[in-house]
Amino acid sequence: MWFGKLSFLLQLFVISSLFQVPAFAIKKSYIVYLGSHAHAPQVSEADLHRVTHSHHEFLGSFLGSTEKAKEAIIYSYKRHINGFATTLEEEEAAQIAKHPKVVSVFLNRGRKLHTTHSWDFMLLEKDGVIHPSSLWKKARFGEDTIIGNLDTGVWPESESFRDKGIGPVPSKWKGICQNHTAGFVCNRKLIGTRYFNKGYAAYAGVPVKSSLNSARDHEGHGSHTLSTAGGNFVPGANVFGLGNGTAKGGSPKARVAAYKVCWPPINGSECFDADIMAAFDAAIHDGVDVLSISLGGDPSDYFSDGVSIGAFHAVKNGIVVVCSAGNSGPAAGTVSNVAPWMITVGASTLDREFETMIELRNGMRLKGTSLSKPLPDDIFYPLITGAQAKADNASAKDAMLCLGGSLDPKKVKGKILACLRGLSARVDKGQQASLAGAAGMILCNDEASGNELIADPHVLPASQINYTDGIAVFNYINSTDDPLGFITPPTAKLNTKPAPFMASFSSQGPNTITPEILKPDITAPGVNIIAAYTQATSPTDQDFDKRRVPFNTESGTSMSCPHVSGVVGLLKTLCPHWSPSAIRSAIMTTARTRDNTVNPMMSASFVEATPFSYGSGHIRPNRAMDPGLIYDLTANDYLDFLCAIGYNKTTIQLFSEGPNYKCPESASLLDFNYPSISVPRLSGSVTVTRRLKNVGSPGTYAVRIKRANGISVSVEPNVLRFKSVGEEKSFRVTLKAKPKRGGVAKGDYVFGGLTWSDGKHYVRSPIVVASAAAV
Ligand SMILES: *[C@@H]1O[C@H](CO)[C@@H](O)[C@H](O)[C@H]1NC(C)=O
Ligand SMILES: *[C@@H]1O[C@H](CO)[C@@H](O)[C@H](O)[C@H]1NC(C)=O
Ligand SMILES: *[C@@H]1O[C@H](CO)[C@@H](O)[C@H](O)[C@H]1NC(C)=O
Ligand SMILES: *[C@@H]1O[C@H](CO)[C@@H](O)[C@H](O)[C@H]1NC(C)=O
Ligand SMILES: *[C@@H]1O[C@H](CO)[C@@H](O)[C@H](O)[C@H]1NC(C)=O
Ligand SMILES: *[C@@H]1O[C@H](CO)[C@@H](O)[C@H](O)[C@H]1NC(C)=O
Ligand SMILES: *[C@@H]1O[C@H](CO)[C@@H](O)[C@H](O)[C@H]1NC(C)=O
Repeated sequence: MWFGKLSFLLQLFVISSLFQVPAFAIKKSYIVYLGSHAHAPQVSEADLHRVTHSHHEFLGSFLGSTEKAKEAIIYSYKRHINGFATTLEEEEAAQIAKHPKVVSVFLNRGRKLHTTHSWDFMLLEKDGVIHPSSLWKKARFGEDTIIGNLDTGVWPESESFRDKGIGPVPSKWKGICQNHTAGFVCNRKLIGTRYFNKGYAAYAGVPVKSSLNSARDHEGHGSHTLSTAGGNFVPGANVFGLGNGTAKGGSPKARVAAYKVCWPPINGSECFDADIMAAFDAAIHDGVDVLSISLGGDPSDYFSDGVSIGAFHAVKNGIVVVCSAGNSGPAAGTVSNVAPWMITVGASTLDREFETMIELRNGMRLKGTSLSKPLPDDIFYPLITGAQAKADNASAKDAMLCLGGSLDPKKVKGKILACLRGLSARVDKGQQASLAGAAGMILCNDEASGNELIADPHVLPASQINYTDGIAVFNYINSTDDPLGFITPPTAKLNTKPAPFMASFSSQGPNTITPEILKPDITAPGVNIIAAYTQATSPTDQDFDKRRVPFNTESGTSMSCPHVSGVVGLLKTLCPHWSPSAIRSAIMTTARTRDNTVNPMMSASFVEATPFSYGSGHIRPNRAMDPGLIYDLTANDYLDFLCAIGYNKTTIQLFSEGPNYKCPESASLLDFNYPSISVPRLSGSVTVTRRLKNVGSPGTYAVRIKRANGISVSVEPNVLRFKSVGEEKSFRVTLKAKPKRGGVAKGDYVFGGLTWSDGKHYVRSPIVVASAAAV
C-alpha cells in the first residue's frame, strides 16, 4: 500500500505464483481511450453488443482480423467510458494513437494504494453525544447515499458492514454481489461487490489464481477505507484495548459497495489502470453516489491516466469522486490525482495520541507514541543504538536504521534498541529488533519526519519519538557506559495540542500538470486512524506477526480520503441536487486553516503549513452543510477547461457526446470557476473571474482580502447582493506584483486569500501566486 506496508508474504506469493511462466517480452497491455459513447444512458443489451463489436472491428482493422482483436482485448468499456484494454506491440499502439477517433493510447500502468475519534474532532459529535444540529442528524447519517470504493476489497464479516438499523437496499441500485468465495455474503449495508483483475493478470503476463477471483480483502486497506467512509456503528471498537469507542464511518447509515482493483504487489504496484477503468464503468452503471479512491500514481496527462478518465465519466454522471493526494510529501510538486473534477485530499493529525513515555536513567522523560504491549518487567532496561548493535558483516548506516540482517543478536538480546526512522517500513524495524531478541525498541524520527508520530501496532514494546528527542536518546546512550531506560505502556490521550498539523508524508503542491489548479483541495484526519480490518493478515501486515484484529490503526492520505467521502455522503443525502462541484465548493470554502490553539496550521516540522499541503484547509462538516455561496461548475465548464489546456475541437467532440459543444473563442484557465485561485506565472498584473451562486438565504456579502506578500489584490465589485436562492453573481480579482524592494523572487510562491461574508457565512478561497520574474 502507499504508506509503507509492503507485505513480504504477498510478494513471495506473487513471485512464485505469477511469474512461473515467462512472459512474452514484446507485447504489453495498453488502454485505447475513445471518449464517450453515442448511446443513451439507458443502454440496451443490443447497444452493448454493438459497442463490443465496434471495438473488435476497430482493433481488427489494425491487427488484420476481428478474430485477432477478440483475442487481444482484455476489457471493452461499454457503458460510460468508451474504449478498451488490449495487448499490443509498441508499433501497433503508435499506429492506433494516430486515428482521429482515438483520444489516447497509454500503457496499463500500475498504481499504489495510498477510528474513532475522528468525527468528534470534526465536531459531528462531542464525547460520543451527537448534537441535534450536527450534519449527522440533519443528513440522517447519510442513509440515502451509496458510497463505493476502488481498493483491495472488503472483509464482509466485519461488524462495520453489518446491516443492523439499515433499511432496504435503495431501488436505484443496479449492482451485484460478485461473490466467488464461499460464504461471501452481501446485505443491506454492504450492497455490492465486484472484482477486476484482468488488467493485473495482463501486466503479470499470466492468469491469476482462481482463489483471487473474489472481492474479499486479504490486505486490510480496503476494509479500513470503506468503513471510514460508510461503516456502521460498532460500540467497543479498539486496537489492543486502546482508543476504545464506537467506531463508525462518516456516513454510518450509507450503503457501501466494494470494487476490488488492487492485488498483491507486482513491481511495487497493486492496482492497474485497465482494471480501474473497468471498475469505474461498472460503478457508474451500478448507481453509486460517491466514489472514494485511496490510490494513485505519478501525475500524468489527464487522458493517459485511468483514475482521471474514470473520474471524468463519473463526475459527468453526477458522482462525486474523492481521491487521496498521495504519500510522497513533504517535497514540493508531489501531489497526485490532480484533475479538476476530483476532490483531492491531504492528511493531517487528530487531537488524539497514543502516548508512551520514554524514561531515561538520567531523569529525562520523552513523549512518544505506539500501540504496542508493555515491557514484561517494571525495571530499567539496558539501552543500545542500532549502530552499536551492528553485525560484523553489516554497515553502520543499515544498523542505525535496524534493517534486516544488520543487527547482531548477541549485542541486542534483552535490551531496548534505539533505531533511526529513515524511509524503510517502521513495523519492519520492530520485527528486526524482535528477531534479534530486543526487549523493546525506541524509534527515533529523522529530521524529515520531525514531529510526526505514528502509533504502529509494533510486535514488541516500542515507542516512536520526535527528532529532537531522538537526538537526546542517542546522546544519552553515547554519554555513559551503562545507559538504562524504560518505555511506559501506551495510553490514549485526547485534546492534544496543536492539532491538526499536516502529516509529513502528505503529498504537496504545486500541481505539476496544471499549476493553475491548486491541489490538494482539502485536508482531513489521516494519522493513526482506527477502522475495520481484515482477518486475512496481521495488523503489521508482516508474515511472522500471527495476531488478528477486527480494527486497526493506519496512517496515510488513503485514510484521510474516505473521511471526506463520508462527509460527501452526508451532503448528498442532505442536498441531493447539488452537483459534485457544488459539494466540493461547500467543503472547501468552509474549511479552517487554524488549529486548536487558534494559530495557523503547522507542518510536521512545526513551520507554518501552506495551501500547497492543506489546500483550502481542514474539513469542517457542520459548516459545509451551510456554505451560503458556492462556486459551481457544469460539464461544459470542464470541456472549456480542456479547451484551455489545449485539447482541440476534434478531441473534445469525443468527450462531449454530441456535436453541440464548441470551444469558446478564448478560454482562460485562470477563469475556470474553481473555489481556489492559483496564478503560477504572474507578470505585471492579471485579472481572474469567478462566479458565485447563492445556496443560502438572500444576503449581502462583502469581501475581505488576505494579502499575499509582495502582491496587491483587489476585488471588483467588493459587495455582492443576492436577492434569491440560485442567483449567480460574478466578480473579478486583480493581482498585481508590487514593484518594490524585498518583493517576490521569480518562481517563489506567496499565499493569500479572500473571504466573502454576510456576517453569518464565511466563503473562503486561498490565493497562491508566483511571479514570472523577480520584482
Ligand atoms: C452471491 O451473490 C448473489 C447475487 O448478488 C446473491 O443472490 C447470493 O445470495 C450470494 N451468495 C452468497 C453465498 O453470498
Ligand atoms: C518489473 O520491472 C522490471 C524492471 O523495471 C521489468 O524488467 C519487469 O518486466 C517488470 N515486471 C513486469 C511483470 O512487468
Ligand atoms: C470499551 O468500552 C465499552 C463501553 O464503555 C466497555 O464495555 C468495554 O469493556 C471497553 N473495552 C475495553 C477494551 O476497554
Ligand atoms: C519533541 O517532543 C518533546 C516532548 O517529548 C517536546 O518537548 C519538543 O518540543 C518536541 N520537539 C519539537 C522540535 O517540537
Ligand atoms: C550477515 O550475516 C548473517 C548471518 O550469516 C546474514 O543472515 C545476514 O543477512 C548478513 N547481513 C548482511 C548485511 O550481509
Ligand atoms: C559518541 O561520543 C563520542 C565521543 O564521546 C563521539 O566521538 C561520537 O561522535 C559520538 N557518537 C554519536 C553518535 O553521537
Ligand atoms: C487534434 O489533436 C489530435 C491529437 O493531438 C491530432 O491528431 C489532430 O490532428 C488534431 N486535429 C486538429 C483539427 O487540429
